[in-house]
Amino acid sequence: MITPTFHFAILNDFLEVMNEQGGILLEKLEKHVDKEPFNIFTDITLCALDIICETAMGKNLGAQDNKDSEYVRAVYRMSDLIQQRQKSPWLWHDLMYLLFKEGREHERNLKILHSFTDKVIAEKAAELENTKLTKRDTDVNSEEKNGSKKREAFLDMLLNATDDEGKKLSYKDIREEVDTFMFEGHDTTAAAMNWVLYLLGHHPEAQKKVHQELDEVFGNTERPVTVDDLKKLRYLECVVKEALRLFPSVPMFARSLQEDCHVSGYKLPKGTNVLVLTYVLHRDPEIFPEPEEFRPERFFPENSKGRHPYAYVPFSAGPRNCIGQRFAQMEEKTLLALILRRFWVDCSQKPEELGLSGELILRPNNGIWVQLKRRPKPVTE
Ligand code: HEM
Repeated sequence: MITPTFHFAILNDFLEVMNEQGGILLEKLEKHVDKEPFNIFTDITLCALDIICETAMGKNLGAQDNKDSEYVRAVYRMSDLIQQRQKSPWLWHDLMYLLFKEGREHERNLKILHSFTDKVIAEKAAELENTKLTKRDTDVNSEEKNGSKKREAFLDMLLNATDDEGKKLSYKDIREEVDTFMFEGHDTTAAAMNWVLYLLGHHPEAQKKVHQELDEVFGNTERPVTVDDLKKLRYLECVVKEALRLFPSVPMFARSLQEDCHVSGYKLPKGTNVLVLTYVLHRDPEIFPEPEEFRPERFFPENSKGRHPYAYVPFSAGPRNCIGQRFAQMEEKTLLALILRRFWVDCSQKPEELGLSGELILRPNNGIWVQLKRRPKPVTE
């Protein structure tokens, strides 16, 4: 039911939000130009959070301007609590959990998150009802004609979505989807963009190629990124893919086998729980020679020919793969194009200084420390 809501037309609307929020991010980054190294991780994460909030719920959260908002704090605290609970079997039972202070904190934070989504869903549902009433009396196309067409959020589509039998999603279904999107849709892309900056900061030759491509597409302008531009940013796309090979934001996913399965001469019986470790799979030297090396060229079409489609699965594969893959690629390329059009990025952080942790998301616990320099404007004829 939900997959069609991610069609191209709506993604194009989302590009507008990405450009707007990217603009706010650029202004925040300006104050670091030609200064000491700083941790860019939170700036990018807050931008990604604002983007998902506006596209998923149609609500401007303003996290970039106010990182101390109650909602933002609850999002971060919940991620910590969930990770801690995963590692502590004595906290798994719901009733036991509530006996510990962490369990009670979990309850409190969940309430903050749910009441925010509840409020937005109620507002949207009322808005939708109102629009239906007014549309009865007006020309349906008049909004588009006078240019006042409202941007549709993912939530609008969920409220309208029906299954094959015409049944609507329940209120709880909708809230669960919106909450999943809020979580899945920002931490993953934020980590991925940070890894790109870390890698480019260590590989000036690749960064130069990205800059050259950006200059060819955008010249001297600071205009917003368009869908056509994104299609032309082929090298940047390979950089994004290679970064997700080395640092897949979701470092593993799981399946319960519904039938016996044979892998490399071993039988895995039906009912087994299997973990696919993307982080390890992407380092198979037979498929990716010298796997620790950052080489965007691996993803040039001529070099990808004949590679098994499941050898590289940052977004998983099959019917339950990531629904937001195109959204994520669009967001990554747009924000990276905005940042790299303006700045040169240096990074001297060593791998052992990253504090790499692969729990829910593969992230650098110590942040990503970069130095920004202003790029000279490209010379155009
Ligand atoms: C670089 C960014 C992202 C990566 C690497 C990523 C990766 C993944 C992976 C590996 C899965 C697990 C699928 C499985 O179990 O087979 C998944 C599921 C999912 N992702 Fe993403 N994701 C990203 C961004 C996004 C975004 C931006 C959204 C929403 C806008 C999103 C929404 C979802 C949803 C809803 C699911 C659950 C799908 C289902 O269970 O059917 N993801 N993602």
